[in-house]
Amino acid sequence: SMSTDAPVRPQTRPDETETPERTNEAPAGGEKSVGTPVRRVDGPLKVTGTAPYAYEHDVENPCYLWPVPAPITKGKIVRIETEAARAVPGVLHILTHEDSPRLAVKSDPALWILQGPQIAHRGQIVGGVIAETPEAARAAAELVEVICEEERAKVEFDPHDPEAESPRIVLMKRGTESKGDLDEGWREAVHRIDQEYANPTHFHAQMEPHAVIAVWHDVDGFDPRATRLTLFDTNQGPIIHRTLLPPLLGLLPNQLEVISPYVGGGFGGKAFPHPHIALAAMAAKVISPRPVKLALTRQQMFQSVGHRPEASQRIRLGADRNGRLTAIEHISTQAASRLKRNVDQSCFATRMMYATPNRRTEHRAVMLDLPPETWMRAPGDFNGMFALESAMDELAHQLGIDPIELRLRNEPDVDPETEKPWSTRALVPALKRGSELFDWERRQEPGTLREGEWLIGLGVASTCFPNQHVASLFARITYTGGKYVVQMQASDIGTGAHTVLRQIAADALDVPVEQVETDIGRTGTPMAIMAGGSQGTYEWGNAIVAACEKLRRKHGDNPPDGASARAQGRPPRGASKYSRHAFGAQFAEVAVSSVTSEVRVRRLLGVYGAGTIINPLTARSQMVGGMTMALSAALFEESYHDPRFGKVMNHDLASYHIAAHADIGELEVEFLPEYDKWFGAKGSKGIGEMAMVGTPAAIGNAIFNATGIRLRDTPFTPASLI
Ligand code: MOS
Repeated sequence: SMSTDAPVRPQTRPDETETPERTNEAPAGGEKSVGTPVRRVDGPLKVTGTAPYAYEHDVENPCYLWPVPAPITKGKIVRIETEAARAVPGVLHILTHEDSPRLAVKSDPALWILQGPQIAHRGQIVGGVIAETPEAARAAAELVEVICEEERAKVEFDPHDPEAESPRIVLMKRGTESKGDLDEGWREAVHRIDQEYANPTHFHAQMEPHAVIAVWHDVDGFDPRATRLTLFDTNQGPIIHRTLLPPLLGLLPNQLEVISPYVGGGFGGKAFPHPHIALAAMAAKVISPRPVKLALTRQQMFQSVGHRPEASQRIRLGADRNGRLTAIEHISTQAASRLKRNVDQSCFATRMMYATPNRRTEHRAVMLDLPPETWMRAPGDFNGMFALESAMDELAHQLGIDPIELRLRNEPDVDPETEKPWSTRALVPALKRGSELFDWERRQEPGTLREGEWLIGLGVASTCFPNQHVASLFARITYTGGKYVVQMQASDIGTGAHTVLRQIAADALDVPVEQVETDIGRTGTPMAIMAGGSQGTYEWGNAIVAACEKLRRKHGDNPPDGASARAQGRPPRGASKYSRHAFGAQFAEVAVSSVTSEVRVRRLLGVYGAGTIINPLTARSQMVGGMTMALSAALFEESYHDPRFGKVMNHDLASYHIAAHADIGELEVEFLPEYDKWFGAKGSKGIGEMAMVGTPAAIGNAIFNATGIRLRDTPFTPASLI
């Protein structure tokens, strides 16, 4: 099979005269399962309700936990009255900062709950009620009275706040960078765009809300090293839990067991353990050996499990008379919780999308007394690219040229930020293929296409997503009972990992996919990265292929029962010399009512260069899901903070509107043939988040084409078009 020479391929460094390879050819032959539309292996379990999600694991004699939220925005607890709550029948214990277990190391400030009287944001967990039933726990929690001393809080986001800071970005790169002379590039520009683009706070709405069962074993045993905590949880992989929770709880990493075989959606919101898990762990310790069950309500999820922060992007584009960019500036300003100070990578894509001699990008954050933000699908790239791709459309309009043509004129030969050659970059082929499929020729001047009351418009935007490699992840393959079992701390968050990982292993072993099983989503298997950053499949795939090859080297094609091999997944040798991103183009057709200003998205098309598509069925579903999530953000998703109380007013799915089936028109996905050998063993790239990145700009650009009205703030509500 082709995979025998992967993942280590000898490569020489390309010299300066060498033209970088733009599209790598797949090695001939070998693949049998990879590339075929294998149906989800866990589909039957899921649709029959027999796949156990976090809250559904069978545990003996559980009790139930309900959190008590902080009733003020900022300040200090003076005292907590629990008498009325204790009188509720079935109440077993009430946790407060006065008597809760002490945490050990502040591995994450958001997890540091019940350790003192300070309150950092409204809704922060300040107590918990353990009871025989969830109803009793909830009723009692309502009766807990938290008496506080309030301090002055700052909860309103102002993108021009003079106190905005320029903090470090979480992900390794610099927050501020520049190239050339921006002022000079701006001066020499003939055409200029200088605009701001905004997004409100977005909240996660996974089908499976956050839930956890915690069981603490041997709390008071003779040997403290024998103590152990088990969490049945919903998360994107155990690795971050294993990093943050053991030090917090005073445990060694292997004293924490995390079990999450099925996960009903993650989207970044389940990457990190959130404070309710710390509460469940403390409660389980107090009530040990009884298991503690905690399921958050949707309303609770609006204040304690993270969100996409409100943000504003200022974009300046300067261009010469031919539309070549002379200057690009992008300043991203976002809200950030003072507690966690997380900053999204909103400018990263701007640094590498288009050629220009002069560029400057900067991330700023305004620290507020709000609940901690977290990753939410395509964090940063989502709003950064909405801004850049809307601004490119504005520039094309000012120049009087087609927006696709503008992008072609600014296509860079190498990554403008790192000056590395692209591993592959299919932006131009995606724009061209998309314009054929979408019949782009029918696009007219703004405000000219009309069907009765409906104004019709077409829009386009580039999309991309960065993919990086991590060095340490492992997989084990074991032959047992006539089957091969893949084991690693990977996670299927609903994307189809159980299925595609079997396909990758099947081809590496040269066996039918039915002969492979997966044991993922739990500790006790080899360490691997979580399902995040769209990098699961290709990274996990590297480790699986390495393990399969090792097994075949050791035991040939007829291994004895119990034969096993464990191997490290490594990026292809030389991969770091290349700039590695997935690219694509998003097209949108909208109809805007001239009577009600309602926007209907009739058609969305995404064309993607995403390397080898391991499974076209599950891959298409991810892209359709991403485009839908982006449409939802573009048209509907909006939250209202009460500035007096720091509270989200529309904190449920009745008032925080997400797209429904009736909002979705035609969705089309096309994957360009591509093989990227700098990603992984199978030439595959990350896919999920890219569908989310360009879509809002494509929709906004289509609205401009329909109406002549430029919308720069999401969501694009009817009110914004009047
Ligand atoms: Mo995600 S936002 O790739 O966890």
